[in-house]
Amino acid sequence: MDFFLDKIAERLGGKQFGKDTQIYKFERIKRAKQEARKNYPDIPLIDMGVGEPDKPADSGVVQMLVSEAGKAENRWYSDNGIPQFQEAAAEYLKEVYGVEGLNPYENIIHGIGSKPVLAMLPLCLINPGDITLSTIPGYPVTATYTKYLGGEVYNLPLIESNSFFPDLKSIPLDVIKRAKILYINYPNNPTGQTATIEFFKDVIEFAYKNNVVVVHDAAYAAVTFDDYKPLSFLSVEGAMEVGIEVHSLSKAFNMTGWRLAFVAGNPKLVKAYGTIKDNTDSGQFMAIQKAGVYALKNTNITKEICEKYSRRFNLLVSALNEIGFNAKKPKGTFYCYVKSPKGAGNTSFENAEQASEYLIKNALISTVPWDDAGSYLRFSVTFEANGYEEEKKIIDDLKKRMLKLNLRF
Ligand SMILES: Cc1ncc(COP(=O)(O)O)c(C=O)c1O
Repeated sequence: MDFFLDKIAERLGGKQFGKDTQIYKFERIKRAKQEARKNYPDIPLIDMGVGEPDKPADSGVVQMLVSEAGKAENRWYSDNGIPQFQEAAAEYLKEVYGVEGLNPYENIIHGIGSKPVLAMLPLCLINPGDITLSTIPGYPVTATYTKYLGGEVYNLPLIESNSFFPDLKSIPLDVIKRAKILYINYPNNPTGQTATIEFFKDVIEFAYKNNVVVVHDAAYAAVTFDDYKPLSFLSVEGAMEVGIEVHSLSKAFNMTGWRLAFVAGNPKLVKAYGTIKDNTDSGQFMAIQKAGVYALKNTNITKEICEKYSRRFNLLVSALNEIGFNAKKPKGTFYCYVKSPKGAGNTSFENAEQASEYLIKNALISTVPWDDAGSYLRFSVTFEANGYEEEKKIIDDLKKRMLKLNLRF
């Protein structure tokens, strides 16, 4: 008798937990990579699938952690965080995004990465039967927690003909009536689309009119290129009344593993988040928060990171277009989102997942497939390379390998 047979909660499948034989996307990619590596041990895998920076944090940030890590005063639980971090976050929002008038202690609280923050926000807002409106494809954490809590999720597909913005007018009235959260994410993972002030204005109007709280996931907000300047939802009039923005140091400062983020926005919702957080974790290590303060005060770190990605995008986008893709350089994120090929030679692909698997097995090129709203492949510019020459070599190699496949579009 399996003691745990009837113990696992229904939200995880109850008695069916662990019996699911379906293999999920990322596991399938992992297996395909392993197989390709085994079959072609001498050919390096070109990994365009990674959603994390390829380099460690800036040495100044690392030094700050080193010098703070052993100090006695930093050893305590930090609970809802140190004031210096809140103050630095407020300054950062002002300097980078022009968000004025934030009270660091009322409008801002840190998080141990933005993932747990996005998990906790439904705990602040969702009662059973409430609906979260969530863009797809995308980062699923807020939607998943909504379902855990007995809420429902209404998906808003991001499609090319609507410039990868959600069509807020298409939401049925009965859904709107029960909607509590609108989750959006710009610059968007995976489409690479960036927000406009007009779009944020529409979102604020929608939120007011329909009594819906806006959660803006700004994980990539500072990672922008060319003439597009970082844009905060909070910089638009009325945003602070209806919503909250979640910022992360992961992508803008190469600090994914450090786990540091912050929420900013409506004081009541920030306070509710603080209450859930206080009952969930005991805060990030103070030395890491202090290293985070250093990062937030040194925005040139992000500037350099963006210059590198921008250079890589120039190479990648022109190579993809020579191969036959219809690629455009995004204005933010590190993702290039292109329509998936229909086939290669005599092989046809039913969806992006099949195309992605084919690319790994036949050309040792790893991408991430998305089939939620059309079939697309995501190429990430966070592949491992040191400097322009190496980057160019990898992209040239990618082009050569792909041209050999006779891809059909
Ligand atoms: C859109 C989006 N939001 C949030 C996160 C979580 O980032 P972190 O928890 O490292 O802050 C990610 C990570 O990939 C992401 O892509």
